[in-house]
This record gives sequence, C-alpha cells and structure tokens, in this order.
Amino acid sequence: MAQSSVYGENAGRTAVQAGKGIKVENLNAYYGKHLAIKNVSIEFEPNLITALIGPSGCGKSTLLRNLNRLHEVIPGARAEGKIFLGEENILDKKVDSALIRRKIGMVFQRPNPFPALSIKENVVSGLRLEGESNPHKLERVIEESLKRSYLWDEVKDKLDEPGVSLSGGQQQRLCIARTIAVQPEVILMDEPCSALDPISTLKIEDLMLELKKRFTIIIVTHNMQQAARVSDKTGFMLAGAERTGELIEYAETKKVFTSPKEQRTEDYISGRFG
Ligand SMILES: Nc1ncnc2c1ncn2[C@@H]1O[C@H](COP(=O)(O)OP(=O)(O)OP(=O)(O)O)[C@@H](O)[C@H]1O
Ligand SMILES: [Mg+2]
Repeated sequence: MAQSSVYGENAGRTAVQAGKGIKVENLNAYYGKHLAIKNVSIEFEPNLITALIGPSGCGKSTLLRNLNRLHEVIPGARAEGKIFLGEENILDKKVDSALIRRKIGMVFQRPNPFPALSIKENVVSGLRLEGESNPHKLERVIEESLKRSYLWDEVKDKLDEPGVSLSGGQQQRLCIARTIAVQPEVILMDEPCSALDPISTLKIEDLMLELKKRFTIIIVTHNMQQAARVSDKTGFMLAGAERTGELIEYAETKKVFTSPKEQRTEDYISGRFG
C-alpha cells in the first residue's frame, strides 16, 4: 500500500486493519406494539462476511437497521438489548447516532446516488459533510474509493457527470465507494444485488470478497447461491405465527448449507418454503 494512502492517515488505524466486530445481545425490536425480532444474540466477526437469510418478513432488515441505529428513526419504533461495536454499546442513548452511522455504513437494495451530485461528489459527500475541504485529500479519496469499488476504470474519464447517469450496477458500486470513503468499521448491505443483472451481481460479490479484508461485512440476501458463494458465516431467521422473527441457526456457511442443525433451516435452504 502506497504511503499516500488515505487509509493510512487515520489515527490509530493501519492500512489493512480490519473493522471492529459487532456483538448483539438479547435484542428485541418493536414497531409500536409489534415485536418484530425477539431475543436475537449474534456476533459478527471482523474480516468475515456474514449472510442473513430467511423468508420475507422474518426481520432481517430490522436487525440490520438496528446495527446502525436506523431503526430508531422510524416513528413508533424502539429496541431493547445491547449492541457492542468493539467495547461500546451503541444502543446507549449517550452514543451519538450520527457517529455510529459513520462507523457502520449501509448499502441499500436500490442504488441511491445523490441525484444532484456528480460521480466524484457522490463519493466524497460524506467527507464534505464532515467539513473536509482539502482538494488534494478529496481527489485522493475519490480515486482510492473508486478503485477499491472496482469502478475507477469505467468512470475515470467522466468524474463530473451525474452519478445517476451510470448503469444500475455501476451506481451500486458508486454507493459502495461512497460508503467506504468515510472509512467505516462495518458495512451493512441489504439485498445489494437484487436490482442488478447477473454480471453486475458477480462484480459486487468479487468486490465484497476484497472489502472483507478491511471491513466487517453483513449482507442480507434472498439468493442462496450468493450466500453460499460469498459468506463465511450464515444466520437463518424465521418468524412464527405472531410475525416475530428469531435467529434460528447461526454457524459457518458451509455447515448451514450442508448439515444444518435445525430441520427448519434445511427446509428453507432446500426451497421447501419461503
Ligand atoms: N417501518 C415499519 N413499520 C412497521 N412495521 C414494520 C416496518 N418495517 C418492517 N416492519 C415489520 O417488521 C417485520 C420484519 O420486517 P423486515 O422488513 O425486517 O423483514 P425482512 O426479513 O427484511 O423481509 P424482506 O425479506 O421482505 O425484506 C415485518 O412483520 C414487517 O411488517
Ligand atoms: Mg428486508
């Protein structure tokens, strides 16, 4: 890694240090009176890709949104339990949620570049919000983030064009560049490929395998092949009659896919429901 790397400049973090892990303890999350996920305890390890799978409505997105405190912005939503990023319980009211969302970035199902911003300004939008204005630093972050998200070669000659002028797959890689530009610890991805064609999907999967060297990655996916291809560990969630989701099984991906402990996991993976 070159000396000039922006990733080397961040105090206390070396160039290839992994992000921190996340430990969830006894998480209950509600929408009003509805208990959407119950008693979820799970540990997401650094340097690994963890996949969350399960039928629609079982609470995968709810769990993900709790991890960076996006759950609480939904009117009537609340949560109980603890979520540790490193040593810090990020559900503690004293913890600044904006700071948490910087440390735990999120990539959504539909690529959502800022429509009014150029490709390069999309990448550094988070840094500009933090007050960064050094043009050399911004240029460097733009180039590095776009290279890291495997987009640089496709856009380096048109950095001033609107982000939304790119294809869907390119826009999603732009959103990943925007997410990594602020050097988060963790990247959450909620069905990041569901709006993409198979080639773009494989590019994002390649990219994830590269990014896990540096970040803790948690991905929600409905695509079993994708979970099997990219993830190291897999969590299977399921909701019962009360529409309350629980974590049914959590283990190494290979184990979950070849010899799950629970019959319900096997039934889901083999396509018998959901
Ligand atoms: N904003 C909301 N307000 C009220 N209830 C919600 C809200 N979002 C989700 N829920 C409810 O919480 C439960 C879990 O939803 P969630 O979106 O987390 O499921 P999911 O596993 O991500 O499903 P999908 O695979 O369809 O995305 C569902 O019963 C859903 O109706
Ligand atoms: Mg969802």
